[in-house]
Amino acid sequence: MTSRPELRLLETAGLGVSRYRLAPLRVDYVSAEIERLLGIPAFRFYADPSCMFEAVHPDDRALLTHALADMSEIRPPLTLRWRLRSGRVSWVEHHRLAVHDESGRLVEFIGLAFDVSGAVSGAAVSTHPWLNATALRALSERIEQMREEERTRIARELHDELGQLLTGAKLDFSATIRRLRELRTPGDVVDRLQSAIGQIDIGIATVRRIATDLRPPALDHEDLGAAMAHEARRVQAKSGLAISVSSCVNVAVEPEISTVAFRVFQEALTNAVRHSRAAKVATTVAVRRGRLLLYVTDNGIGIPPSALRGGNSIGLLGMRERAVRVGGQLRITGRTGRGTRLLLTIPLRTP
Ligand SMILES: Nc1ncnc2c1ncn2[C@@H]1O[C@H](COP(=O)(O)OP(=O)(O)O)[C@@H](O)[C@H]1O
Ligand SMILES: [Mg+2]
Repeated sequence: MTSRPELRLLETAGLGVSRYRLAPLRVDYVSAEIERLLGIPAFRFYADPSCMFEAVHPDDRALLTHALADMSEIRPPLTLRWRLRSGRVSWVEHHRLAVHDESGRLVEFIGLAFDVSGAVSGAAVSTHPWLNATALRALSERIEQMREEERTRIARELHDELGQLLTGAKLDFSATIRRLRELRTPGDVVDRLQSAIGQIDIGIATVRRIATDLRPPALDHEDLGAAMAHEARRVQAKSGLAISVSSCVNVAVEPEISTVAFRVFQEALTNAVRHSRAAKVATTVAVRRGRLLLYVTDNGIGIPPSALRGGNSIGLLGMRERAVRVGGQLRITGRTGRGTRLLLTIPLRTP
């Protein structure tokens, strides 16, 4: 089994790459990095892909089942734990891309995977009695920071290295086609090359999309409003929810703070899509009296008080932790049948 040239480029960039179909599940290709990450030799995937269920951590089995039963073309990345033969558990972030034929029919999925064990392995020690709440908070901060750094690094490498490689390959192909035409090469040879260029174009667009999703470049150019508007368009396109963003940020906001605002915004949108049954979401981001303010309001069913009281909603907890980390505050209110309102306030450090 071989991979296609554009997939080999992704492998060169260190990503685990697979090609598979769903319903029924069939694995057409897995790269050596996938074998390493999941601890399953390639031949077992090809022989019986359900071998994955033995290797995945029992607590993550339901997540895997759910992901494989879901034919959606766009899914958020999924982090799964895999038990390696050494006894070690590897945490792997899985991304999925849908591939269509010329008539727009879904033909297969490309899986991209990378190791995030370094960023999350701290979670495994939480049962140690000496790890108190303060230590856990410091740990969670560190994990978040590492994930953000990791995302930034992978996004840059994907965009810069792989993007340039693909662009270079495209130029070479184009030059070759010109030369072949001069040499009066048969049309079908030229057509094959044209189609290869088409695939490279898809590769370039895909790399750009994955890189932007991992870490919007606008965040590092101190343009929080632009990053949010881009995210809003992305979520709107896949969910149908009408999302407006009004931005009045006229001072430079340091990347650490705009990253917190952006990630809170992302979680608020995810929640609105998943739980609110709203038709629209209105967002305002502004700087007033030395503070960054982010309002996210939906017109849905309203977050139930029980969700706000419960201490174990990971999403809400995550937003709050992020806010606290930069000295900010998060307030969420829900009114039954009249929507949910979120306000994030972060004091800006004056230079
Ligand atoms: N915008 C919203 N509208 C209605 N309910 C919400 C909204 N946001 C969150 N919730 C409720 O709060 C719960 C906790 O949210 P969260 O911690 O993000 O967990 P998750 O999204 O993983 O379920 C959700 O399960 C949902 O019931
Ligand atoms: Mg959530």
